[in-house]
Amino acid sequence: MTKSRVIIALDFKNKADVLEFLDKFDEPLFVKVGMELFYGEGPAIIQAIKERGHSIFLDLKLHDIPHTVKMAMKNLARLDVDIVNVHASGSKAMMQAAIEGLEEEKGKDRPLCIAVTCLTSLSQEVLDDELGIHEPIQDVAIRWAKNAKEAGLDGVVCSPLESKGIHDAVGEDFLTVTPGIRLASDAKDDQKRVTTPAMAKDMTSSYIVVGRTITKAADPVAAYKEVFNQFQGE
Ligand code: C5P
Repeated sequence: MTKSRVIIALDFKNKADVLEFLDKFDEPLFVKVGMELFYGEGPAIIQAIKERGHSIFLDLKLHDIPHTVKMAMKNLARLDVDIVNVHASGSKAMMQAAIEGLEEEKGKDRPLCIAVTCLTSLSQEVLDDELGIHEPIQDVAIRWAKNAKEAGLDGVVCSPLESKGIHDAVGEDFLTVTPGIRLASDAKDDQKRVTTPAMAKDMTSSYIVVGRTITKAADPVAAYKEVFNQFQGE
């Protein structure tokens, strides 16, 4: 498995675009496959990426009744990916069921399982007015991270800005996987709050998820090296 803790979000339309991108690199990468690509191409896309030696975070964000999530996780475990995820709002019972499914299939070799706390697209207003959760959004994220830890998960997806608070509340070895990363020279696109790789390192991110900063760069390999050096360099 790659030692890279920079996860490249493969937000491409199809397999041909993914492979054209991956062929630019001559080292094993850690990549993220999301719903769009997985639902479009099916499990064969995972096999194609694995054949090239890359590690995979399969970002499907499962959320259903515990039994259904458990059985779905048994199927995902057979794909031999490295990280899978669920929504923390699905409850501790659902998260425990996810781990049970993975362990029944793979034992100790199961993929890491992390929880999405509050999506960055959720605002305090939506929590209050639509969802009836009358609590500061940061506190909700920390509470759900605690639930994920208690359910036996390995970490959470969160903002780099939340990483330190979650580590303080839940422990240093609980993984924080953080999107919303840009190099200082980049456009922010639709990300509202962005962090550089060097800032994410200081903010205790365990892994960073980086999409367009690398995939849309004029020189993706150079952009990856810059991100990697800032985040994992000495
Ligand atoms: O291109 P960019 O670096 O903004 O891509 C970030 C990736 O992380 C995308 O795949 C996006 O869906 C994902 N993500 C995010 N914010 C979250 C959760 C996931 O940007 N809160």
